[in-house]
Amino acid sequence: MAPPPGHCLLLLCALGTFALNRFARGQKNSTLIFTRENTIRSCSCSADVRDCDYSLANLMCSCKTVLPFAVEQTSYNGRLTIWFTDTSALGRLLNFTLVQDLKLSLCSTNTLPTEYLAICGLKRLRINTEAKHPFPEQSLLVHSGADGDSKGKPRLLHKGWQTCMYISFLDTALFNRDSSLRSYSIENVASIAHNFPDFSYFKTFPMPSNKSYVVTFIY
Ligand SMILES: *[C@@H]1O[C@H](CO)[C@@H](O)[C@H](O)[C@H]1NC(C)=O
Ligand SMILES: *[C@@H]1O[C@H](CO)[C@@H](O)[C@H](O)[C@H]1NC(C)=O
Ligand SMILES: *[C@@H]1O[C@H](CO)[C@@H](O)[C@H](O)[C@H]1NC(C)=O
Repeated sequence: MAPPPGHCLLLLCALGTFALNRFARGQKNSTLIFTRENTIRSCSCSADVRDCDYSLANLMCSCKTVLPFAVEQTSYNGRLTIWFTDTSALGRLLNFTLVQDLKLSLCSTNTLPTEYLAICGLKRLRINTEAKHPFPEQSLLVHSGADGDSKGKPRLLHKGWQTCMYISFLDTALFNRDSSLRSYSIENVASIAHNFPDFSYFKTFPMPSNKSYVVTFIY
């Protein structure tokens, strides 16, 4: 005996809802952090927001104000976007963190000093300096190594800086330039502290020296 059509519809509906839920869960929100007038807002966004449009972000994303120490987390899953206005704020948010997909937008006309940001596991970097130069967004593929597994799950992000194999140094003065983004990588670096004595901060940051790293300079 065939079930009455109403049941069919109900079943279809249920299936549809199930599929929709799966779809919504499959689409991961990205993290947006912005600093403004000494406050830090951390947002979860399901869609891209025009860079440096603070009110739009507050409207479209789910945002909360966070205390400075609360954002000193060491790893980010998924896409991370940071809107910043000065080097110190950016350093506090990003220095020595683990992130694979990063977008940085300078939202001021400030000239930034040369300082290096150390980032672990960076695969894709996007830069926007629209507030300063009328340039289109720039993009750089840093590495496509298999630090995470094939499904894009960043396994590495659960381990911490100590196990970092891909280290990027980003020169913050790159935001001042009107030239395009450049990078070079050095593979099989045996010891960071030994090979890059200028980066004195590795002396205060203990790293196992008997493994090899891929070091990328972005400038
Ligand atoms: C994803 O972002 C939307 C706003 O764009 C928000 O309402 C929702 O709570 C976020 N979901 C998660 C899991 O954070
Ligand atoms: C990142 O941390 C190192 C070591 O503490 C420091 O020398 C460097 O200036 C910091 N970079 C930024 C952009 O704050
Ligand atoms: C690296 O050195 C540490 C301490 O010197 C040692 O415990 C560890 O087994 C070494 N790892 C490798 C892969 O050789």
